[in-house]
Amino acid sequence: MATEAVRVQPAARVRGRVRPPGDKSISHRYALLAAIAHGRSRIRGYSTGADCASTLRCLRGLGVDIRETGPHGEGGLEIEVNGRGLRGLQPPLSELDAGNSGSTIRMLSGILAAHPFRASITGDDSLRRRPMRRIIVPLERMGARILSSDGRPPLTIDGSLTLAPLDFRPDVPSAQVKSAVLLAGLHADGTTRVHEALATRDHTERALRAFGIEVARAGTTVSVRGVASLRARDLVVPGDISSAAFWMIAAAALPGSEVEIAQVGLNPTRTGVVSVLRRMGARIDVSPAPGAGADEAGEPLGTIVVRYERLLETRIAPEEVPGVIDELPVLAALATHGGGLSVSGAGELRVKESDRIAALADGLRRMGADIDEQPDGFAVRASRQLRGGEVDALSDHRLAMAFAVAALGAAGPTTIHDAGAAAVSYPEFFAVLESLRA
Ligand code: S3P
Repeated sequence: MATEAVRVQPAARVRGRVRPPGDKSISHRYALLAAIAHGRSRIRGYSTGADCASTLRCLRGLGVDIRETGPHGEGGLEIEVNGRGLRGLQPPLSELDAGNSGSTIRMLSGILAAHPFRASITGDDSLRRRPMRRIIVPLERMGARILSSDGRPPLTIDGSLTLAPLDFRPDVPSAQVKSAVLLAGLHADGTTRVHEALATRDHTERALRAFGIEVARAGTTVSVRGVASLRARDLVVPGDISSAAFWMIAAAALPGSEVEIAQVGLNPTRTGVVSVLRRMGARIDVSPAPGAGADEAGEPLGTIVVRYERLLETRIAPEEVPGVIDELPVLAALATHGGGLSVSGAGELRVKESDRIAALADGLRRMGADIDEQPDGFAVRASRQLRGGEVDALSDHRLAMAFAVAALGAAGPTTIHDAGAAAVSYPEFFAVLESLRA
């Protein structure tokens, strides 16, 4: 779906304080687990992004009563989810629509694998191009049947009440795949284990514990046992560090900038961007929230302040990629301001909401950047100032926002086509950008 174009003017600096929207990854997980828990859960700070609305829409299509009980204000949404209990979802009356959201279709498939009815899930043009064999293979091994269009959505899932536990080694580092298998594993008779080559974000593990489930971890192996029920509970979603990253990076890019990010998630599987920014020279203070530095559900949070310093060159190695996977487009944008950046081992970027390697290289080059595209990464040299110009975000939210951050350092304005895609994770993005111009 093409959305409106936005014209971004260069900025001298950015200054101010931002409270980012509720974390997208955590919002999905809290809603999904609340839906299969016993009793009523209240979730505050639920992401305002369209992806998290897709999860709620699919859950409602499966008979879950979800009410919006609070404002759409700075702290995100407040929702109440009346859980249907384990295996309590209802057969949907029509095809479920996950919109643009890979997290929704993959994680929900793990839950539907354990429901003894047929459900079909589809999504928008982008989602219908994304690879699903990575979840189809393990979920079929556990006992579900899943039809797909050559490994892509729509998926038609025939779930089974009796899932077998699984010992699984994903071929790709993916928290969505790990989560789909663990969620199915809750419904299996025995222990399900996921062995990861590289650790990915652990929000599912933390959320499961918050809902009363025991999750074991040994190195990069995570395991759960089949359970009888999940306990409903009230939760607050911390701010999304992947959304905050756009402001952290704008501040690191523009001389004289200083931005404070409040109430942001500091889960160590997500803070890779802080390490990369420090290597690139930015001055960053991270202050964990008082107390244990984590919320009641075990998600660390706090405040991050970023101040500009002269940018240095760095490289991101394959082992570091899962911890910065969603920040790579905006880190490429940063490197156009100064420093330079090379990334390898990031082939997964090609199967995100767009082929992010090709689209980034094309868009940044149109703005005047010196960028090389590789099969599994890219290299940006900060040899010249961008001109600005016209770019297409290709309906990819992170590209729309990354191009906007690159545009701040250009000599002239940049028109970003399809910039409305930002609403997938950060509907307030362009308004916040204008408020930070000093
Ligand atoms: C996510 C995991 C990552 C990430 C996506 C959200 C999650 O995808 O890119 O934006 O919430 O688990 P993969 O698990 O496919 O790498």
